[in-house]
Amino acid sequence: MANLLSTKTPWDLVASAYADITMPMFRTYASAALKLLELKPQDSLVDIACGPGTVALLAAPNVESIDALDFSEPMIKILDDIIREQNIRNIKTICGDGQDMPYENNQFDAAISLFGLMFFDDRAKAYAEIRRTLKPGGKAVISCWAPVSESNGFQLVFGTLRQINPNIPAPQTDIESLENPEFFRNELEQAGFRDVEIHRVTGEIPFTNVKDFWNDMVQANAPIAMYKNSMSDEAWQEKNQIALNYLKEQTATKPEALQAHAWLGIGKK
Ligand SMILES: C[S@@+](CC[C@H](N)C(=O)[O-])C[C@H]1O[C@@H](n2cnc3c(N)ncnc32)[C@H](O)[C@@H]1O
Repeated sequence: MANLLSTKTPWDLVASAYADITMPMFRTYASAALKLLELKPQDSLVDIACGPGTVALLAAPNVESIDALDFSEPMIKILDDIIREQNIRNIKTICGDGQDMPYENNQFDAAISLFGLMFFDDRAKAYAEIRRTLKPGGKAVISCWAPVSESNGFQLVFGTLRQINPNIPAPQTDIESLENPEFFRNELEQAGFRDVEIHRVTGEIPFTNVKDFWNDMVQANAPIAMYKNSMSDEAWQEKNQIALNYLKEQTATKPEALQAHAWLGIGKK
């Protein structure tokens, strides 16, 4: 599943629903990441794996310029449409690979990759690209998810996925991955960043009722959307019912908010 998310197909598939459903939900993380960067009005920012512009749109009123890059054409098209509709003049978009960016050396004051770089096949290359394109002293923020076991929201989503696809293994905390904050810190330091700090930020997955929650997941969650696409409508209807039954059972006595914890790693060039 992790490898699939380093390819364009799942992101192209969910782009439109991602913009409607996931983008508003991720603003909590985007705001926290931007706060850490302490941007000034004259700053230039690069938003790597920008999606439909979760970070770029939020940052635009507060900086001089933003270069927003993503390898998914449908994601970039959505951002381009928003830029045009809202007459935003300081976001420049490009379709490209975050591991090989079409930017100059020492171009940016700050860089950010919100839930993007974490999926790349070659993170070392992506860090090297960030360091190459940042001005000396420039800051970068990278985000990734904390272990599923710590977030009741992700437990519910994974639990449902495993009901409809028993081949999916139970999520295990992997200490040799970015979900371990010490591993994350070490990786950023090894990549050459200094003054590295890892911050925890908590967002919420909205839940009003089982049907809407599951519909949103099926449209906007890339692994679930890919799984649905892999089978006939008839086969999916059966899976859908299993998912709805499981969610009803799990949420019958679950009034608390569904949380999703993430790590924000910040470092300087
Ligand atoms: C979870 S979305 C995050 C989008 C946005 N940053 C946000 O926080 O809402 C992951 C994004 O990474 C992009 N992506 C994944 N691998 C990429 C790569 N190698 N180069 C550029 N974009 C990539 C996908 O197209 C997708 O838009």
